Amino acid sequence: MELMKEISERRAYRILSERPVPEDAVRRILEAGTLAPSCYNNQPWRLVAATGTALVALRAALSEGNAWATRAPLIVAVAVRESDDCRLDDGRDYALFDAGLCTMNMVIQATAEGLVAHPIAGYNPKKAKAALGIPKDHVLITLVVVAWRGSAEAGDDGLLAPWQKESESSARERKPFGERVSMDRWNLG
Ligand SMILES: Cc1cc2nc3c(=O)[nH]c(=O)nc-3n(C[C@H](O)[C@H](O)[C@H](O)COP(=O)(O)O)c2cc1C
Repeated sequence: MELMKEISERRAYRILSERPVPEDAVRRILEAGTLAPSCYNNQPWRLVAATGTALVALRAALSEGNAWATRAPLIVAVAVRESDDCRLDDGRDYALFDAGLCTMNMVIQATAEGLVAHPIAGYNPKKAKAALGIPKDHVLITLVVVAWRGSAEAGDDGLLAPWQKESESSARERKPFGERVSMDRWNLG
């Protein structure tokens, strides 16, 4: 099983197509999310896949810099309640961590389907939660914007800032490996 292809080909692309995502692919993406590991198998994530009228309401909650996401035919909301997962005495709370594991599973599955899956934090959480009926005591930790990649011309529709258009074809930016990873012992800044 070779996963490095999906992991390295995944990018936070923003030029999207409005072409619908097939229902079976939507199902596989959501199922991949629910197959993630979680503390004590608590499975704290709650996923709301917005495709229809809910999506129209959700678009209104996106921040200005995420106007590009209004083209997406699918947005998956990832919500958790801290009390639904492990909370250890030393301050380690695992709900958000487990929501991240769930999110990444969905992102990788979507990438394997040939789709763009772009998690975002730029939205009004109150408005977004209201659009989807997410209870107040849940944190809406991310929206995963899912779509087929759009054509280069679709990038000229005014939804992307110039830097966002540029980043579509720019090299991936990462800190040097050795600045973030060490073997056996902390050897990091
Ligand atoms: C938690 C989180 C929040 C993000 N929020 C936004 C966002 O609101 N808008 C956006 O355009 N990109 C957002 N991104 C995408 C990141 O900017 C992107 O992943 C990062 O620049 C690295 O680029 P790459 O994913 O192509 O490697 C977010 C990513 C994560 C994980």
